[in-house]
Amino acid sequence: MSGLGYNVWLNYKRQNKAFSDKYRQILTKVLILTSNKKQDHILTSAEEELKLALGTFSNKQIKITYANTIYDKTEGLVIGTYNLIPDSVRKLIQIHKIPKNDGYVIKTAKNGQKQITVITAISSKGILYGTFKFIRLLQQQKEISSLNIFSEPKTSFRMLNHWDNLDGSIERGYAGKSLWKWDELPQKISSRYKAYARICASVGINASVLNNVNTQPEILSCEYLTKTAAIADVLRRYGITIYLSVNFASPILLGKLSSADPADNNVIQWWTDKIKEIYELIPDFGGFLMKADSEGQPGPFAYGKNHAEGANMFARILQKYGGRIIWRAFVYGQGETDRAKKAYSDFQPLDGKFLPNAILQIKNGAIDFQPREPVHPLFGAMPNTNLFMEFQITQEYLGQGNHLVYLAPMWKEILTFDTFASGKGTTVGKILAEKDGSGFAAVSNTGDNDDWCGSLFHPANLFAYGMLAWDYEADTNDIAREWAVCTWGHNVKLINAIMFILTNSWEACINYMTPLGLHHIMKYNHHYGPDPACDEGEREDWKPRYYHRADSVGLGFDRTETGSNAISQYSEHNKKLFGNLKTCPEKYLLWFHHVPWNYVLSSGRTLKEELVFLYKKGVEQAEELRDKWISIKNEVDSDSYESVLNKLNIQVKDAHEWQNVCVSYFLSFVDK
Ligand code: GCU
Repeated sequence: MSGLGYNVWLNYKRQNKAFSDKYRQILTKVLILTSNKKQDHILTSAEEELKLALGTFSNKQIKITYANTIYDKTEGLVIGTYNLIPDSVRKLIQIHKIPKNDGYVIKTAKNGQKQITVITAISSKGILYGTFKFIRLLQQQKEISSLNIFSEPKTSFRMLNHWDNLDGSIERGYAGKSLWKWDELPQKISSRYKAYARICASVGINASVLNNVNTQPEILSCEYLTKTAAIADVLRRYGITIYLSVNFASPILLGKLSSADPADNNVIQWWTDKIKEIYELIPDFGGFLMKADSEGQPGPFAYGKNHAEGANMFARILQKYGGRIIWRAFVYGQGETDRAKKAYSDFQPLDGKFLPNAILQIKNGAIDFQPREPVHPLFGAMPNTNLFMEFQITQEYLGQGNHLVYLAPMWKEILTFDTFASGKGTTVGKILAEKDGSGFAAVSNTGDNDDWCGSLFHPANLFAYGMLAWDYEADTNDIAREWAVCTWGHNVKLINAIMFILTNSWEACINYMTPLGLHHIMKYNHHYGPDPACDEGEREDWKPRYYHRADSVGLGFDRTETGSNAISQYSEHNKKLFGNLKTCPEKYLLWFHHVPWNYVLSSGRTLKEELVFLYKKGVEQAEELRDKWISIKNEVDSDSYESVLNKLNIQVKDAHEWQNVCVSYFLSFVDK
């Protein structure tokens, strides 16, 4: 497999001669510092990547030399851990501070007529990340004669969650079947495992949960653990730690015990033995991801235990191995009038009760990966618990594999949201960055399609996720441009069009799907397309009417004190902000308020008029995205052009459907 889709942004196509001349010195002399070449597989991955990239750029075989030290006469590109760089060279290149963990430095120095470029870090992983960064600079044809880059990830954990089932299907997956070929493992190792690892490592992703949170207990059988170990062997070479989703009732379902009670000694022993077995096979295993007492999954409630008691049983056993239990906060149902309140009610009182290696993974909003949600109120309310942010890269509710929506601005809105938890400036990003044990997880959009993510544009979101997980303060336009150039090359007209499409796509999607804070009005179960009138489903909180509450008075869910009072779960500042119709940001209006149809918004339009206006605008924006693509027809190959155009045509058609269905349905309540 090859080509634009398969290589995603690792597209090292041959560059022109001017490019080779510009980088000649670097392209010809590469030295890797190591004291033990054979042992360091991650360094070998960096070497392979450099060979591939520099070799393809220049259309020459790249010779890489190894040495255990360097001298101040050395020139060209040198990569190696900091401890191997002698003092004289350190002085020459003037590296005063070395980043911790996975961070790296890329520094150039002049040595007489000669130039040296050093990529260094405290670990080989840092070197690998620095190498990918350096290659991206070349892909973008950046000036590299005076580099001074110091990059340190703001969070230690940057994880992908695969919702892949053992039968090869993917829950909410829109890019083919699972990457993991369980039937062939461990005998046959697909070349895509390594390709996947390269893609992840190139953007700093350092952990991967292989299987669905709605998990089959067989994943913990000896047979599947051996298969998992074979995948771990490949991913380890790229600094990626493997985790597994596990079923809380595994001691019953797999171990044939009569209970899964976390306080029962037989249960504890069962997990202790199982975890020992795993670490014997995978010594650097990361740990478990758990969906418990959520959407029918078993959990500690059946035994009168709370989530912390459930999680801590695992944490105690895993501690010895340096492993973690990641416990999801996605719970709803029973005992709450408003689904949006449930997770906070269950988990906030448990703050401080989770052991340090028991991490709470919270979705970005309190409902479920909608086109736009206010921040989940648990962020800022759990200061004594290690937290993971859970994003969804796969576009379950945002047009799935068909709609082109660049998600980075949505994630950035969440990460820069000020919780006011410890005064002004307590942003979600800061909360995650403050604790070493906190980090990021995201539901992956990958599958075994040739193009990995379902279209030529969907990898932009995987790329952006990695970039924001590394640095939540990164600029989402810069990320988009970097992805665009690395993927599509340097044609200015094309890149400008791609930038227009990416940067306008999220707003377009919100407008034609769920403007003004509307949410969960998608079709039942598969969540594709509009169905605000739908009455299917056995639960009230699966029905759109539960969320939009349209009636003759107005539209929206009253979550203020007169309604469900979900606003009480936010800090005093945000509670006031959201609770008052006049100060509530209009983007969240119908999330927090039941607004009269004749209420006048900042635009001067009534709610009724604004709704009509925004749905129409969303359609026009979707058309603009498509027209922008049509305008660059002559700038791309016809296959790429047609495949993207097909998707954009579907998006426009769907946007019209959203507008027609929603406007006619909601307006049917006005003047009733
Ligand atoms: C959503 C999604 C489910 C998924 C669940 C979860 O409800 O539709 O498919 O299992 O989220 O995050 O656990």
